[in-house]
Amino acid sequence: MIKICCIGAGYVGGPTMAVIAQKMPALTVTIVDLNAERIAAWNSEVLPIYEPGLYEIVKASRGKNLFFSTDVKNTIIEADIIFVAVNTPTKNYGIGLGKAADTRYIESVARIIAEVSTGNKIIVEKSTVPVKTAETLKEILTSNNHGAEFQVLSNPEFLAEGTAIQDLINPDRVLIGGDPTPEGKKAIETLAAIYAHWIPREKILTTNLWSSELSKLVANAFLAQRISSINSISALCEKTGADIDEVANAIGKDTRIGSKFLKASIGFGGSCFQKDILNLIYLCEYYALPEVARYWAKVVEMNNWQKQRFSHQIVRTLFSTVANKRIAVYGFAFKKDTNDTRESAAIDVCRSLIEECAEVVIYDPKVTQFQIMECLAQGIGKNGRVQVESCPYHAALQSHAILVLTEWEQFKALDFNRIYNSMQRPAFVFDGRNTLNITELCSIGFRAFGIGKS
Ligand code: UDX
Ligand code: ADP
Repeated sequence: MIKICCIGAGYVGGPTMAVIAQKMPALTVTIVDLNAERIAAWNSEVLPIYEPGLYEIVKASRGKNLFFSTDVKNTIIEADIIFVAVNTPTKNYGIGLGKAADTRYIESVARIIAEVSTGNKIIVEKSTVPVKTAETLKEILTSNNHGAEFQVLSNPEFLAEGTAIQDLINPDRVLIGGDPTPEGKKAIETLAAIYAHWIPREKILTTNLWSSELSKLVANAFLAQRISSINSISALCEKTGADIDEVANAIGKDTRIGSKFLKASIGFGGSCFQKDILNLIYLCEYYALPEVARYWAKVVEMNNWQKQRFSHQIVRTLFSTVANKRIAVYGFAFKKDTNDTRESAAIDVCRSLIEECAEVVIYDPKVTQFQIMECLAQGIGKNGRVQVESCPYHAALQSHAILVLTEWEQFKALDFNRIYNSMQRPAFVFDGRNTLNITELCSIGFRAFGIGKS
């Protein structure tokens, strides 16, 4: 029986392994993490991450063929296949500061694997890594002196948070990169055979290691580029009277363009897009391709501009001052159906309002008060007044404006008549996600603004 170990019980490792365990009851899957609190949560009734459908899948396999543990070394020793799903944040120090990926966690994992392994093992890079990371892994792994043999594969994860379970069950493709040697090909086949239990063979692509590693960065860069493109046009719509949703719908009907990922917003967030583009830029600079680097840098620049543009519009519209004004924020997660706040546009928007001495009152259906306060701690400074409310109606009470920063479905069902009646006059709504019906809000009496709507 094949034993799988996954190192890193986060947004990638947790859902991915839960689905593998569900689809292949004959495998034993153990997810390990250094963070004991996180592991305890995975073993409890309140999982550490919110993802629709995840709890049910975990519950069905947990204790049968799905296990969560802090015993990293012993799980590695027993495993045939080791997935590496640790975090690779952007470096915040030294060479490549603010651009390169910080690979220290990956490297430390490689060192532990090298130290304790015996026998043959397949090491699978699941985390997004800079191109050529597999080479580093291989080099570290060869320091093993217990006669262990390793095959390193790249198998990037393409799941999007909020839809992770359906993305894992029915992915557009699975990508597996490996060495073109007989041993490399055998390792690729072993992993492909696991996925083939529920994914059609034609969706399982095999490539060399470097193509696989690079494809992940490029996929995210292209997706983010679409958002920056539509967001750039949203600014033009606001000036000209064109409506961004109508423009997106019209261009999306062209099958060459396609209709997905054309939703104008206050900017993309999440742990991947910005990090991966910065990583791509760093790679291009490293390989002396400054023109390519500058091209992709514009995608991030546009995203930052969009967030700033939104904050400035709020201040300008509220008669150029938000000092001491209560502003209600609906949604703090970087998108709906997740409790993840990494790089959420809401962080930047809230920080800039706090800077302007506003009183910011935040409501999010899934993000905890602790997490919100931790995200904003840096920006609070001397002016800071932040409050977290567990009820959207309380958050809006006596406020001058509501900002919709995450497109949670439940916001559409709120009683906006009641909200309007509890607010200051004039009452404003700024919908950074075009989630609500602006015409309806205006008919109640709100002054309502949406991205790309004039
Ligand atoms: C992304 C990729 O989609 C996924 O394939 C990869 O594995 C990880 O990175 P994720 O960041 O979880 O997934 O979510 P995604 O749905 O891509 O959204 C990212 C950000 O873009 C969110 O802030 C979202 O609100 C924003 N977005 C998305 C838009 O502003 N407009 C859109 O049309 C789509
Ligand atoms: P992602 O979104 O990529 O899944 P997360 O930060 O949610 O990223 O999860 C990565 C997990 O990897 C964290 O829970 C972290 O504690 C874990 N981790 C990092 N380094 C190690 C390590 N050396 N051994 C075990 N777990 C690790």
